[in-house]
Amino acid sequence: MIRVAIIGQGYVGLTISIFASEHFEVVGFDSNQKIINQLSSGISHIEGVDSSLLATRIKNGRYRATANSSEIADCEVIVIAVPTPLTKDRKPDLSYIESACKTIGSNVTKPVLIINESTSFPGTLRNFIKPNIEKFSQRQIEHLYAISPERVDPGRSDFNQKNTPRLYAGLTQEATAKTREFYSKFCDNLVEVSLPEVAEAAKLFENTFRQVNIALVNEFAQIAHSLGLSVYETLDAANTKPYGFMKFTPSAGVGGHCIPVDPTYLAAVAEDHGAPATFIRRANEVNLEMSEYIVRRVATDNGGNLQGKSVLVVGVAYKPNVADVRETAAELVIEHLRNQGAVVSWHDEIVGNWRGESSAPLRGADIAVVVTKHDSVDEKKILACAPYVFDTTGKVSSPHGL
Ligand SMILES: NC(=O)c1ccc[n+]([C@@H]2O[C@H](COP(=O)([O-])OP(=O)(O)OC[C@H]3O[C@@H](n4cnc5c(N)ncnc54)[C@H](O)[C@@H]3O)[C@@H](O)[C@H]2O)c1
Repeated sequence: MIRVAIIGQGYVGLTISIFASEHFEVVGFDSNQKIINQLSSGISHIEGVDSSLLATRIKNGRYRATANSSEIADCEVIVIAVPTPLTKDRKPDLSYIESACKTIGSNVTKPVLIINESTSFPGTLRNFIKPNIEKFSQRQIEHLYAISPERVDPGRSDFNQKNTPRLYAGLTQEATAKTREFYSKFCDNLVEVSLPEVAEAAKLFENTFRQVNIALVNEFAQIAHSLGLSVYETLDAANTKPYGFMKFTPSAGVGGHCIPVDPTYLAAVAEDHGAPATFIRRANEVNLEMSEYIVRRVATDNGGNLQGKSVLVVGVAYKPNVADVRETAAELVIEHLRNQGAVVSWHDEIVGNWRGESSAPLRGADIAVVVTKHDSVDEKKILACAPYVFDTTGKVSSPHGL
């Protein structure tokens, strides 16, 4: 049976490991020993990856989690699924990819198919991954290189690895063909593009499209409020047009590993090539500014001053029904509330613990600000937790909100 190594066992890597291990023998490599220990005992840390399925795959010998990089040596296919965040000065941070390249280069001694699923800017496969693997290899090996950017949306049940169309392209025709063969085992719809750079750029553009439209609707929410109109009713009215309109809804901002990050990768590569990215940069700013706008509205409604008021932020995950707090808008909302002198706690039982704080009970506050509404949280309890509730989600029928 073909052995596949998947480098990085997070949201993307573990999800793909579970789908791939139905057809292949999968080695899930992660540099975090704690994650490996948990996975090895059959416990999934990712929503949407069922622990009992993980345990079955381990029992059947189809999946093994390891932090020992030498175990990838005899795999025929290697998938890279490591983080691609931003540096402190908000530039693309390829250090995790570089370290994955080092793992591959220093352990793999025969030609294999290497597929990158991590999101990065066009040219990453050709000009960064290939040369870095070659740099770390002890001798020259002709690997096959391909890209297939991941589109998984954690927590989503209608679209998954099997039915989400998957873009792919290799640096050579052989790499393209082998990549198609690999994914065809567990993906129904494969879309070949002519160059890896097209797939890389398409992935960035998909999330930039979302970020720009979210920024537009966030700006529109402010315009609608200033005109005394309901943003939701206006959006529903616009959405009756059967063509040329796609409805996005306002929020406290964007979060997660993709939408706040990927457009910055696109802007960075655009500016490196002398092309403008002003629209993309501004969209990011509008989304970041939403938290300040919301806190200003809350303060205005509460006598213009939040000093000493107890404020409960309801939902701190970046989106409903997941525990993921990466780049969550709740962080900026809390920061602005604290800057105003509010005594802030938060309620999110799915997240549980975050930044050294624990989820507070859903009651007893002067003010509540709903940032994320998980399905499991009762709307009536939210409305009863404080005499003033400001809703940023459109899911809580409070008189105050976006
Ligand atoms: N999360 C999503 O919804 C999503 C969707 C599409 C694409 N992506 C992209 O996929 C990539 C991975 O994202 P993720 O959400 O799975 O990240 P994640 O943080 O959930 O998981 C990454 C894992 O990689 C491990 N890791 C880091 N460096 C490593 C190394 N050198 N060797 C081995 N393991 C290493 C970490 O310990 C972590 O467990 C990113 O480029 C991201 O932009 C993510």
